[in-house]
Amino acid sequence: MFTPDTYAARRAALAQQAGSGLILLLGNADSPMNYTDNIYPFRQDSSFLYTFGLDMPGLAGVIDIDADTATLYGDDVSLDGIVWIGPQATLAELARSVGVIEAKPLAKLADRIAKARDAGRAVHYLPPYRAELRLWLAELLSLYVNAVDAGVSEKLTQAMIALRSIKSDAEIAQMENALDVAQRMHLLAMRSARNGVKEQEIVGLMTGLAASQGRALAYPIIFSRDGHILHNHGHGYTLKTGDLVVNDAGAESPLHYASDITRTTPVGGRFSERQRVVYQAVLDAQLAAIDAMKPGISYREIHDHAARVLVAGVEPLALFKASAEEVVHSGAYALLFPHGLGHHIGLDVHDMEALGEDRVGYGEGVSRSNEFGRRSLRLGKPLHAGNVVTVEPGAYFIPALIERWEAEGRHASLINYASFNACKDFGGIRIEDDVLVTAGGARVLGKPIPKTVADVEALASA
Ligand code: GLY
Ligand code: MN
Ligand code: MN
Repeated sequence: MFTPDTYAARRAALAQQAGSGLILLLGNADSPMNYTDNIYPFRQDSSFLYTFGLDMPGLAGVIDIDADTATLYGDDVSLDGIVWIGPQATLAELARSVGVIEAKPLAKLADRIAKARDAGRAVHYLPPYRAELRLWLAELLSLYVNAVDAGVSEKLTQAMIALRSIKSDAEIAQMENALDVAQRMHLLAMRSARNGVKEQEIVGLMTGLAASQGRALAYPIIFSRDGHILHNHGHGYTLKTGDLVVNDAGAESPLHYASDITRTTPVGGRFSERQRVVYQAVLDAQLAAIDAMKPGISYREIHDHAARVLVAGVEPLALFKASAEEVVHSGAYALLFPHGLGHHIGLDVHDMEALGEDRVGYGEGVSRSNEFGRRSLRLGKPLHAGNVVTVEPGAYFIPALIERWEAEGRHASLINYASFNACKDFGGIRIEDDVLVTAGGARVLGKPIPKTVADVEALASA
């Protein structure tokens, strides 16, 4: 855990920005998999974790803005509980460990909320994303379940986003810690991606490595020869020399900060000429994006900059019939690069998206595009020092998309469909790192993970 003062300061900052009334933050409950006692691995709500720091189910926190107090609600483990799960810290001890003076039984929470509402005080809460918590909020606030979302506190939500968007040095240290494990997962995968090895075997190696360090994965691993299927979670293919394999994998830190890294490896250790051209274009786009990042510039601009470098880089394949500037401006580039350049990362891999993707990624003069490709950019607004974002350009040849666009004659004057059709067997390439925006620019977090053509080939053929 961070120091008790850290959590107290976060609660004070939230209270100051939310104005007046109560702030109600519910921790996550255990989630049954197939019957009550067989549960999914517990994952605490990230905003609760940020504010109250405690990593177990059955807790709620209340901040009284006007009285300047914080109360932790929960229950001490019973003797029966101790029999099954062993002795646990008391609620009062837990509260003290995160700088909270007052600890009360969970059964007292409803009364506290009811009294505040009867007195006409605001009860601020965040958007729920789990059914259990939506039901709990409905009960506490005497609302119909389907009215809960409409009552979310915009002020509290914006305050939480403002705070969580700027990472402290201690948070950066957690992210680098998560990246240490991600780095080892990726090195292992790159060395293991050999002819005749099934994708699942390598997924198992990476999962085992994370588990052996007591770490959860930050998200389900994408490891596939079919890298053009963006969120492909099938791992049934047996790798063959000449394949490209996309590996998008990351682990959590002990305090649940995420890492999110992608590398693309040629099975057999050598890129073909065509693969090398596309790989180098993706890498150049990523490096150019990182180089251009600094406070004040919008991530939408960085996205377009990366797209222009990518399109210019694939020129030897004659995929487009116009300048990179024109291809990107028109949106035609999205046939090759249909997703966004990146997103915030922190306690969540897509950080804070439970609070609303547009609230997190847009505003400050930038609104989301409706256009295919650009509309998938999760972060468009200006960067600030202390933001940590992923930079993850890619190039993909998606047969169904190529066929549809060609049939519709989309951007026919800009796209050379014969060249795209010739690459339908290519798959995809993505390169992703986690990058801190600094006062003067940007810094890639974590130890280096090979990504130049020479370094990737050396590792994959070692
Ligand atoms: N790992 C999911 C993503 O890169 O967004
Ligand atoms: Mn990502
Ligand atoms: Mn990723």
